[in-house]
Amino acid sequence: MDRPANVGRCVDMTDGQAAGGGGARSAEVALDSSVPPRPGEPGEPAGGPRRSRMRRGRPAGRGPVTAVAFGPGRVNLVGEHTDYNDGLCLPFAIELGVTVRARPSLDGLMRMHAVDIGSHDVFPAVAPPRVEGWRSFARGVVALLTEAGYSIRPARLTITGTLPRGAGLSSSAALEVALALALLAHSGHGEPDRRQLAGLLSRVENEWVGARTGLLDQTASLFGRPGHALCLDVRALGAIPAPGQAPGGVPAPGPLPAPPASAARASGADGGRATPGAEPAATGIEPVRLDLGRWRLVTVDSGVRHAIAASGYNTRRAECARACELLGIGSLRDADQDAPGRLPEPLGRRVRHVLAENERVRLAVAALRAGDLPELGRVLDASHASLRDLYEVSVPEVEATAARLRALGAAGARMVGGGFGGSVLALFPPGRRLPAEAMRVAPGGPGRLLPR
Ligand code: GLA
Repeated sequence: MDRPANVGRCVDMTDGQAAGGGGARSAEVALDSSVPPRPGEPGEPAGGPRRSRMRRGRPAGRGPVTAVAFGPGRVNLVGEHTDYNDGLCLPFAIELGVTVRARPSLDGLMRMHAVDIGSHDVFPAVAPPRVEGWRSFARGVVALLTEAGYSIRPARLTITGTLPRGAGLSSSAALEVALALALLAHSGHGEPDRRQLAGLLSRVENEWVGARTGLLDQTASLFGRPGHALCLDVRALGAIPAPGQAPGGVPAPGPLPAPPASAARASGADGGRATPGAEPAATGIEPVRLDLGRWRLVTVDSGVRHAIAASGYNTRRAECARACELLGIGSLRDADQDAPGRLPEPLGRRVRHVLAENERVRLAVAALRAGDLPELGRVLDASHASLRDLYEVSVPEVEATAARLRALGAAGARMVGGGFGGSVLALFPPGRRLPAEAMRVAPGGPGRLLPR
């Protein structure tokens, strides 16, 4: 696809830098409204979560609340399977997510209560043992925050959520973000460096959950901005110091990044308002106004639960790594347009998808800036076709859902997230009746502390 001349700045922000983002990163795992629903998963007690062995623990819900934090889910407009290839994505945080309430724990143990699935966990605050299932998220967050130098006080945490079940809207990142912000505030730490925190939380997925995902979900959840999508340049995002190198305590706060005033005015990216923040070329995060007028973005659940660690996600990632090896490059961001032709199949198809998907992010940004929503719809359709035919991460139920939405008048429809199930995102022009099960999605704010 040709790159339009007026695409703006969300392009190649760090070309020429060493590939830095290919390592362990973030995840999206099928979750219940607040935690991953994995009936029958290893580690889940027989008889379902309500019979958890942790039920014996003291309920998490007593005592004064010390912190309340919210982590939003996300929708990715376009730019799928590009994050772990140092590429471009265009997500936005949504208004639904996970809320964590913290109270002191006086016996030195961390106590979690996932209210929506009636499941509990109790573990030592220092060096939590490894487990399977949703408990690995909380234990991983505690372990990696501690490893990064934060002292974390024992807490009783209550987890509730509003994200629909297993719909591919990254309830896992929402959970991690809410847990981390609640634990940091509960432990007396101030606002963390959010870019470092995104990297750290993605390592939870890689190292504790077993999903070798990228930075997309945690970054969207931590940096959401009402009215905006976020154009992410993951190569630039990956060029931050490793989370383990973060100073303990309270690093400098990371206010929502905004373009410098002049650039924001020129691009309309910030509606003419600029807030203090790092230059986007350095942050890898550029807010892009998502002005839909009377058009609507909705998600519809395909009904197929996806669990990234168990799906072909890790296989796709390994295929990309193999393609890089054969091409002699560190990251697919450095692949040229001829690269697919030099690779055996299916690697050629995978690389073709990644190259074109990066271009589609640029096209979508250009379409948004031009107010060309029919073009945005075409980009969504093209992304879906590529994910189905080249990246091969679709399933029949997702195809049926996308086809139904197009038949109902959607200008474009595509699967969101890692694939192999989950939700379909559709863009509807004014005047079209939305299907009853459609959930309207709009960009909301970032993960944040809420009043106690
Ligand atoms: C999941 C992962 C992300 C990203 C998407 C695909 O949501 O968690 O890191 O790779 O799949 O774009």
